[in-house]
Formats: sequence, C-alpha cells, structure tokens
Amino acid sequence: MTNIAILGFGTVGGGVYEVISRASKKPLNEVNIKYILDLRSFPEHPLGDRVTTDFEKIINDESVSVVVETMGGDGVAYKFSLAALKAGKNVVTSNKAVVDKYGRELEEAARENGVVYLYEASVGGGIPIIAPLNSCFMGDDILRVAGILNGTTNYILTHMQSEGKSLEEALKTAQELGYAEADPHADLAGLDAARKIAILAGIALDKYISYESIPHIEGIENVTSEDIALAEQLGCVIRLIAVAERVGDKARILVAPHLVGKDSLFHAIREAFNAVSVTGSAVGEVVFYGQGAGSLPTAAAVCGDIERAISGKASAHVRTQCEDGFILDGSEGGKFITLANGKKYRYFE
Ligand code: HSE
Repeated sequence: MTNIAILGFGTVGGGVYEVISRASKKPLNEVNIKYILDLRSFPEHPLGDRVTTDFEKIINDESVSVVVETMGGDGVAYKFSLAALKAGKNVVTSNKAVVDKYGRELEEAARENGVVYLYEASVGGGIPIIAPLNSCFMGDDILRVAGILNGTTNYILTHMQSEGKSLEEALKTAQELGYAEADPHADLAGLDAARKIAILAGIALDKYISYESIPHIEGIENVTSEDIALAEQLGCVIRLIAVAERVGDKARILVAPHLVGKDSLFHAIREAFNAVSVTGSAVGEVVFYGQGAGSLPTAAAVCGDIERAISGKASAHVRTQCEDGFILDGSEGGKFITLANGKKYRYFE
C-alpha cells in the first residue's frame, strides 16, 4: 500500500480519486488516499473523513510518499509543493502556473531530496507529451514543438465557425463545461497556451523558460466571425497555435491565431481538443491528439505521474537556466496571409 495526499479536491483532485478508485493494476490499485487537503468539507464523499485543513499533518506523516498538488494558483500551491519536496515526498502536479514560475527551483529541491517533481498534467490535459519529450525523443534533435494547447479557445473558435456564435456566447458555454480558467482572460489572451509552450519548449530544449520571456503572445480576442468566414473561403480554419522552434542555436517562441490549411492535421482539431506536433530531425513530424482539459483526462495524466513516482521510473532532472538572448523575437518571422478584409494572419505549416 502506498499512501498519498491530494492537495485541492476540485475538478482535477476529484478526478484523481475517480481514476485511482477504478485502477485495476499495481501499483495504482494499491494506492491509499490518506489525506485530502481542502478548506471545504465533503461529508457525503466516501473519503469525507480524510479531509483536513492541516498541511503539517501531511508533511509530518512519514508514510505519505506522494503529494498530489491540484490546488491551482501560484501562492500556497508553490509553498506546499516546496515543503513537501523538502520533506522527502514526491510531488505530482497539474498546476502549470507553479511549474512555469517555480519549476526549476522545485526540480532542484526534488533532486536535492532524492525525490521527483512531475507535471505531465500541466500541459495538454490527458495527452502524454512531457514524458515522451523527456524520454522517447531524447535520441533525436527536436526542431519544433507546436500545439493547439488551449481547449477553451479551440472550443470558442470551433463554435464561432460551426454555429456562428459570438466569442462571448461560446466562452460562456466553455465555462459551463468547465474548460476555462477561473479567470478566462488567461485563455483568451493566449497566456495559458504561452505557459504550456514555455514548459514544452523548456523540456525540448533543456532550458528553464518562463512564459514571461516569450516576446509575442497574442490571443483570440480580435478574431471575428468575419475572419473565420473569410478563412473558410480559403479552405482554412483559424486556430490559436503556440510554436517553439530552433533557429540555429536559439529559439523562436510565439503564441498567435494562425490560419491552418487542410494539409495540416491541426485543421481537424475541433471542440476543446488539443494537439501537439513534435518535429525531430530524424523522426520527422509526430502528432499527439486528445482531451486537453477536463477532470478525468487531466487526472489520468496525474495518475500516470503517480505511478512513475511510486515505481521509480522517473528521475529528477533540473533544466538549465535560459540565458539572455536565447529566445528570438518571432513577431515578424514566418509566413503571413492577408484575408479579404485586410487582416493579416500567420499561416501554420
Ligand atoms: N483552461 C485550460 C484550457 C484548461 O482551456 O485548455 C486546461 O489547462
């Protein structure tokens, strides 16, 4: 039996309970959720008696080997993650804000304490992408990582096109379906996608990159139904795409709405689905597709990390600091197409 604690019993934390409850094989079916840290109580829940507000109880319990951080935010979530790592506990998270802001420090704390800090669920929800980048692609030179990494904006763009909904109407439904961030500005303005591409680029290039160092982050706020209709006349859809590519010994990273033609697999990515394309110098293009948000898909990724932490399959790795000038300003680079209304869009190739 492996004891774990879940910090934050919301959409993802609750999903982790669900996935563990239905696990049929070792070691996940031998995981015991000993504590759930939350300010709320859950009297009707089967694990309602394990809910606590006392974090000290968790880090002082030597029998807890994995702490699952699904709290959100970058304040308490960061402090608790650091404290757990320093107490010699593996930490698994879905929290991209903490990974983005404190990832390197937490990786270092993990290494110093002989444990791991894992964050597969922080990018692409249920899509396995961080572990493959960290292992399968290690033998190749990664030239480009590109992705539709935000389910909310993809849902909005899909429904603006298929049902002629306004951005506001489609956002409301995306929020009701639980895809959007607490503050949807992060989704709409491309900040959520920026955090995710910064994490992926960091792994692909073995650098710690914060989204704040990305020179061009553009969201979908200015995409209109007219743009979408005009794009359709060219056989294209509009998608919010985050790209990180090697340019010599530097990188060009940007987030922006792109026109996507039918020859790209990204043309078919609809609703809240995500896709990540990785291009290696030997392997060529490899595309990952799946549910990028939602309780169970994200929890599945968290549980994969719990399994890797328990079974010792993951090792601690600290990315190197990103030096000044490494990230190029990509605002002018790439191919652009002008729509019939005069608006210029990047074209995704
Ligand atoms: N708001 C995010 C999205 C949630 O829409 O993709 C998953 O990170």
